[in-house]
Amino acid sequence: MSARHFLSLMDCTPQELLGLIRRGIELKTLRNRGVLFEPLKNRVLGMIFEKASTRTRLSFEAGMIQLGGQAIFLSPRDTQLGRGEPISDCAIVMSRMLDAVMIRTFAHSTLSEFAAHSRVPVINGLSDDLHPCQLLADMQTFFEQRGSIQGKIVAWIGDGNNVCNSYIEAAQQFDFQLRIACPEGYEPHAKFLAQAADRVTIVRDPREAVAGAHLVSTDVWTSMGQEEETAKRLALFKPYQVNRALLDQAAADVLFLHCLPAHRGEEISEDLLDDPRSVAWDQAENRLHAQKALLEFLVEPAYHHA
Ligand code: CP
Ligand code: NVA
Repeated sequence: MSARHFLSLMDCTPQELLGLIRRGIELKTLRNRGVLFEPLKNRVLGMIFEKASTRTRLSFEAGMIQLGGQAIFLSPRDTQLGRGEPISDCAIVMSRMLDAVMIRTFAHSTLSEFAAHSRVPVINGLSDDLHPCQLLADMQTFFEQRGSIQGKIVAWIGDGNNVCNSYIEAAQQFDFQLRIACPEGYEPHAKFLAQAADRVTIVRDPREAVAGAHLVSTDVWTSMGQEEETAKRLALFKPYQVNRALLDQAAADVLFLHCLPAHRGEEISEDLLDDPRSVAWDQAENRLHAQKALLEFLVEPAYHHA
């Protein structure tokens, strides 16, 4: 199949990623100026959600509508995917009717298998392994506030999860140093670490990771699908809370990001999202603009009139 997919940040070149960030910023300005821009008129995005979502669903659905197209929400509960129809068959059929498909799922192999049988672009809306769309928004937010992230120090505090894995790929693609502070046994998967050995350092002490950092990011301690581990994780991750005192160890102009949803009192202190160093609300909004840039990049332009 010849369609271009976005399952990982590694599916784009560094130049393409920078282009997407720049375009996301432009599309944000157009929207703020009230300019109608509908290059995806009559185009339809299918959105398969096997896990819950607020931001990802809203940003893709609103984004498609704003670009002149439409989005269809598909839950495994009411499609044949949930009743055991093979992923390959679903991909063949869906991609004959849709112009792109976004999937939020558990095993990353579901995405790869769907993409292998899809005629149209497939976008990773989060898997157990990666969350590349989140990183588009995170990078756009840093660029808007501080310019290039090349050569900067980024600290990831907490679980070596899907968002952390995408930070590892971002460290390669955007050329920054990533320090990950996590408890033993909760490191990112070795395959992601191996591909970025020269960009990533693992430490145990969050203060060591944050020292002099230009960007600090964290995420929930229990990701979707790990709910039965919650009590154990709450105890283990306690020393990894990001709070104002920890941010004080970072560079004076540090930015704080959280992909949300946040659990105040757990991975962040009650007051952290109110701290002037936090730009988490801009980051959440940028999901919309960054993904509109991605949709414009991946989806064919509008049909011609007969
Ligand atoms: N950050 C993020 O992906 O949020 P949702 O789970 O609400 O989509
Ligand atoms: N790591 C989290 C991210 C949610 C956006 C999860 O997978 O649940």
